Amino acid sequence: MYSDKPFSDRVILVTGAAQGIGYASAQRFAELGGRVVLLDKLAAEAEAAVAVITDHGGRASAVIADATDSQEVEDAVAAMIADYGRIDVLVNNIGWNKPTPFLESDEAFWQELLDINLMTALRFCRAILPHMIDRHYGRIVNIASIAGIHPWPGSVIYGVAKAGIVSMTRSLAAAMAQHNIRVNCVCPGPTETGLSKALRVTNPDYVKAVHGMVTLGRLADPGEIARAICFLASDDASFVLGECLVVDGGYNMV
Ligand SMILES: NC(=O)c1ccc[n+]([C@@H]2O[C@H](COP(=O)([O-])OP(=O)(O)OC[C@H]3O[C@@H](n4cnc5c(N)ncnc54)[C@H](O)[C@@H]3O)[C@@H](O)[C@H]2O)c1
Repeated sequence: MYSDKPFSDRVILVTGAAQGIGYASAQRFAELGGRVVLLDKLAAEAEAAVAVITDHGGRASAVIADATDSQEVEDAVAAMIADYGRIDVLVNNIGWNKPTPFLESDEAFWQELLDINLMTALRFCRAILPHMIDRHYGRIVNIASIAGIHPWPGSVIYGVAKAGIVSMTRSLAAAMAQHNIRVNCVCPGPTETGLSKALRVTNPDYVKAVHGMVTLGRLADPGEIARAICFLASDDASFVLGECLVVDGGYNMV
């Protein structure tokens, strides 16, 4: 029997899903039949995102939490397990950047970037993996960045955090494979979201500079990143483990 709703019996948590890549992923999972939980710290934006998905016939709900707070993460995961009984797919998407020359950045700024871009993903893995192990099923897709694999002179700490996501993906994939839990990550290139719009404010030449570096000559649409995320979470990727899927339009290729 062929199915165009491969996630119809799956509960999917997408973090940072009120907008951008997370929102596009939640939309795509819903289109593919999944029950999607959109977690974000922005309540109004998350509720609006849920309304769009449900208006189109999708199954979605919002959970409001600040993922830099361990207790809020633990409470949010406990509430989801109570409501749905399980979380089959976790997309660790929360991230943020503010390009700053290394020598002009202080330790408070380093901590903030590491917390938002790396620690939030670790917190969700710690909270959810025991449930996935109990059910002997889980799919985790972490969102890193090409900044984690290419030098980004203006974003040293962001790159460190994203390289940490790549490393965490590989180690957790090796540790969790025995439990039928596949962990992979996506490294997006420059993508048209609120984050890239903010980068334009600090660097007005951002788009022009980026277009020069992306072989396809444009930024990605968030939906193009979302499709890679859904692929890694799907059975189509059943033999893909600890992989870092670069989706960057050929960044620095020529
Ligand atoms: N946009 C790009 O060009 C690009 C490129 C490579 C990688 N990425 C990565 O992709 C991911 C998504 O980026 P985006 O561009 O869609 O960002 P975005 O700013 O559009 O969306 C990020 C979402 O995360 C939420 N969030 C941030 N901190 C949070 C917290 N502490 N608790 C709960 N929610 C929080 C925000 O409210 C927002 O809704 C990030 O990890 C980012 O680093 C983005």
